[in-house]
Amino acid sequence: MSRLSGGAQAGFHQPDLECLGCSLEANGLLTLRVKLEEAGDGQGLRVEVEDNGQGIEQENVLKIFEPFFTTKKGVGTGLGLWSAKSLVEKHHGQLLVQAGDGTTRFTVLLPAANTAVSVPEAS
Ligand SMILES: Nc1ncnc2c1ncn2[C@@H]1O[C@H](COP(=O)(O)OP(=O)(O)OP(=O)(O)O)[C@@H](O)[C@H]1O
Ligand SMILES: [Mg+2]
Repeated sequence: MSRLSGGAQAGFHQPDLECLGCSLEANGLLTLRVKLEEAGDGQGLRVEVEDNGQGIEQENVLKIFEPFFTTKKGVGTGLGLWSAKSLVEKHHGQLLVQAGDGTTRFTVLLPAANTAVSVPEAS
């Protein structure tokens, strides 16, 4: 899956990256930004997943990364963002959220690895 090669260069294993991609849902118009940038003592990968969908109530913003927190009663497990955050932190990164003004943005920050890794195409 060549579109994930930026993440692979950041030292992310492909199954982790696919799992993260499944967890960062969006609704409405989706905007995806990927950028390699200077971060601290090296380069870092910034991935932003932004939508203009239903938004997040301010009272829930601090709760969404808690395991089993969900507003999708009877449908959601509430484990998506918790597992996404755990994966990102396992790779020494950060998963952040900004919500308000009709926009919800999740930002993944990852330290880049020194060596690029080639990712095989999906079969
Ligand atoms: N893009 C988004 N826009 C608005 N709310 C969101 C968005 N992403 C997550 N949320 C809120 O965060 C809550 C927790 O998300 P999380 O992915 O952890 O669980 P879930 O989506 O409810 O369940 P599951 O992980 O099983 O799909 C959601 O129930 C929803 O209220
Ligand atoms: Mg989810």
